[in-house]
Amino acid sequence: MDRALADLRNGFLPRFQAASTEQALRDENAKILGKKGELTAILKQLGQAPPEGRKAIGEKVNALKQEVEAGFDKCLNDLRRKQREAELSAPPFDLTLPARMPVTAGHKHPIAMVREDVVAVFRQLGFAVFDGPEIEHEENNFTMLGFPPDHPATDMQDSFWTKSNKLLRTHTSNVQIRAMTSLKPPMAFIAPGTVFRRDDDATHSPMFHQIEAFLIDRNVTLAHLKGVLAEFANRLYGPGTPVRLRPSYFPFVEPGAEVDIGCVFCKQPDGTRAGCSLCKHTGWIEVLGCGMIHPVVLENCGIDPDEWSGFALGMGLERIAMLRYDIPNIKLMFDNDPRFLAQF
Ligand code: PHE
Repeated sequence: MDRALADLRNGFLPRFQAASTEQALRDENAKILGKKGELTAILKQLGQAPPEGRKAIGEKVNALKQEVEAGFDKCLNDLRRKQREAELSAPPFDLTLPARMPVTAGHKHPIAMVREDVVAVFRQLGFAVFDGPEIEHEENNFTMLGFPPDHPATDMQDSFWTKSNKLLRTHTSNVQIRAMTSLKPPMAFIAPGTVFRRDDDATHSPMFHQIEAFLIDRNVTLAHLKGVLAEFANRLYGPGTPVRLRPSYFPFVEPGAEVDIGCVFCKQPDGTRAGCSLCKHTGWIEVLGCGMIHPVVLENCGIDPDEWSGFALGMGLERIAMLRYDIPNIKLMFDNDPRFLAQF
């Protein structure tokens, strides 16, 4: 028994030290101190030892057990420290390296891109931005703009009403009224914003975006309007883009017109248009509504129509974006599907 204890005492530390992993060390420890371990086996033989020697042997076994436990702890600590040192001396992580996966940056929505381009053109021409509310009084959205109650034009823009004669504005023309009733002419403003109508199909959405532009000064004529439109077409669609006005009706302008630009999709090198599906083979694309501000509207806002005159125009941004990017359905712009948005 003494021999067995002596062998174990001499052998356990080298065995522990030879273990290169924590698991190997634990396995080795179990072989000695475990239920079926070598030291446990020796302890079990104690009963066969002569009674007078038992106490001494028992003390030896316990002392050895403590030595083994201490050896195990020390080896475990050594092993862990070595691992930590290896980690620390390995090539360090460079947190400034670019990620391995190509990470794409976000970008602007196509409607935001169109809005910024249009706003930039008008700002270059000297227009300043004027903001107006999306929930608007009936007077500012309709009445002051010359829509009498129950005028058919209010059907044309079937609206979302809230209580107390307010509605979600059906166009950005409300900003004309807000500017004219709060400031004195001359003025030249642009008003980008969200508008709402009960309309829902491939080219209409109940919520969409418009940009209004209006200018009031002395002796403003249709020629000024056409000049601004020509410059707008030049700067947004390229030099020499032709513009034409077709008579149209809006209650707040007289005369009123719809504006077409020469189709940018089937333009030939000589400047003629071949005709394509986007312009329905006419060579022209409708982009906005406009006109000379109706004298009654000026009067409604306390501006003397004998002294001042002005023009206004309004365009839908979704339509411009759909034409520019060849987007077949307006809803694609509001679904926020990254597969769609990533294309712009
Ligand atoms: N507000 C009109 C619309 O929503 C557009 C427009 C603006 C027409 C200004 C003429 C002048 O359709």
